[in-house]
Amino acid sequence: MAGLRTPALAVLLCLHWHHVIVKAGTLFAVPGDDVFFNISISIVSSNDGFIAVEKHVDDKHKVMVFVDITNPPYISAQYRDRINFPGIIGLTEMYFWLYNVSIEDAGEFRVVPVGIRKVLGSQILAVAGRPGNPTIVERTIPQVYKDHTLECEALSSSRPETNGFNMSFIWKLNGTILVNTMVRIVQGKILIIRRLQREDRFDKFTCIAYDSDRLPSNESMYYQIDPYYGPAEELTLDPPNRTYFVEEGSVLASITCSADCHPHCIFSWDRGVRHGAKLNLSVIDKTKNGIYRCTAKNPVTHVSFTTALEVILTTRIGTERADRNGFPVTKVSLRVIVVFAIMSLNLVLHFTSFTDRALPANMVRYASI
Ligand SMILES: *[C@@H]1O[C@H](CO)[C@@H](O)[C@H](O)[C@H]1NC(C)=O
Ligand SMILES: *[C@@H]1O[C@H](CO)[C@@H](O)[C@H](O)[C@H]1NC(C)=O
Ligand SMILES: *[C@@H]1O[C@H](CO)[C@@H](O)[C@H](O)[C@H]1NC(C)=O
Ligand SMILES: *[C@@H]1O[C@H](CO)[C@@H](O)[C@H](O)[C@H]1NC(C)=O
Ligand SMILES: *[C@@H]1O[C@H](CO)[C@@H](O)[C@H](O)[C@H]1NC(C)=O
Ligand SMILES: *[C@@H]1O[C@H](CO)[C@@H](O)[C@H](O)[C@H]1NC(C)=O
Ligand SMILES: *[C@@H]1O[C@H](CO)[C@@H](O)[C@H](O)[C@H]1NC(C)=O
Repeated sequence: MAGLRTPALAVLLCLHWHHVIVKAGTLFAVPGDDVFFNISISIVSSNDGFIAVEKHVDDKHKVMVFVDITNPPYISAQYRDRINFPGIIGLTEMYFWLYNVSIEDAGEFRVVPVGIRKVLGSQILAVAGRPGNPTIVERTIPQVYKDHTLECEALSSSRPETNGFNMSFIWKLNGTILVNTMVRIVQGKILIIRRLQREDRFDKFTCIAYDSDRLPSNESMYYQIDPYYGPAEELTLDPPNRTYFVEEGSVLASITCSADCHPHCIFSWDRGVRHGAKLNLSVIDKTKNGIYRCTAKNPVTHVSFTTALEVILTTRIGTERADRNGFPVTKVSLRVIVVFAIMSLNLVLHFTSFTDRALPANMVRYASI
């Protein structure tokens, strides 16, 4: 047999092959299938009996399937029991049965004149395997109230790799197959969860991949989403006061800023002595007057919110406020208060309870009385 493949014999025996490659089609099979090959070939003239079918796994590796030179035809050992080759080759087609296909049979079956590097026609046989164990991965950061995307990843084991099957997927939630709804949208390997909720963390998702309807992968390990949330728009202060009227020289207990966040928020105060979420003003003097802002930031989602509190310094005769930038706005009016205080102590006491920002203007009006 080997002699047939030497160039000398080939030149001698294989005459006048017109070389036209017929576009390869693909046969899809599952292990155990019986497959019928009907390969279109292009032959202008032939010397019957000098056609081989080679199986190419890739460009370097090929297996001689059979050679139609003898009667009955030679069939290599690997295929001897599994090929039914009628031994008839028309001028435009070649057909044979391959029984009980296995994944090793996958590849391109080329019809070639013996010993000559020409291809008369070919047929790709793709054989499905069970996809490898799938895993669920997140394609977006899971954020409460946002859409979240999961993907079922599985490696195909069908061959040849470049002519694989279209994988299909099944998603399950708590063991029940998921169907498309407004909340959970199944798109093949993608699962979209609309407007993620905190409670969704209890849901257990699994997926199964198919390379052919008949060959499911193992079910993936279950996956639970860990939705990130917070800070909400209103941060919490402890104590909750947003305004402190503090007498100069007194001590203010530290103020703690908090927020419901997952993962834990990072807190910062824009001024004062800060220890993360804690603001410690200790002894109050003029420099402590003004507005303090706490910002909570979620380290994963980068969502942040800011809340403010105001320390208003009180003296025995009045109050001193700061504007939003921390600069006192009552410098002028304080003098007014002093004048006014002499006139009516009661009225000044009344002023100390004002928090209205229009206060200085009002006071000017009073002063001009
Ligand atoms: C092989 O395929 C050709 C065209 O696709 C068709 O005409 C022919 O009948 C087929 N032969 C067999 C044996 O099925
Ligand atoms: C088909 O081939 C497999 C090995 O690939 C073998 O185990 C099985 O017995 C074969 N089935 C038949 C019906 O020959
Ligand atoms: C499926 O799981 C079993 C054990 O649970 C393992 O033996 C087998 O290899 C897995 N299949 C695949 C395709 O990974
Ligand atoms: C894969 O998908 C393509 C496009 O949808 C389709 O034409 C082809 O028949 C599919 N292949 C298999 C094996 O189902
Ligand atoms: C899934 O099961 C968990 C308990 O294991 C439950 O808390 C959750 O609500 C279930 N999800 C759905 C959508 O039923
Ligand atoms: C916080 O406000 C409450 C009532 O508004 C007041 O009784 C309390 O003294 C304030 N706390 C501080 C530390 O100023
Ligand atoms: C606040 O700071 C002062 C001095 O800076 C310190 O003595 C005091 O222990 C601090 N208090 C807290 C609650 O951190």
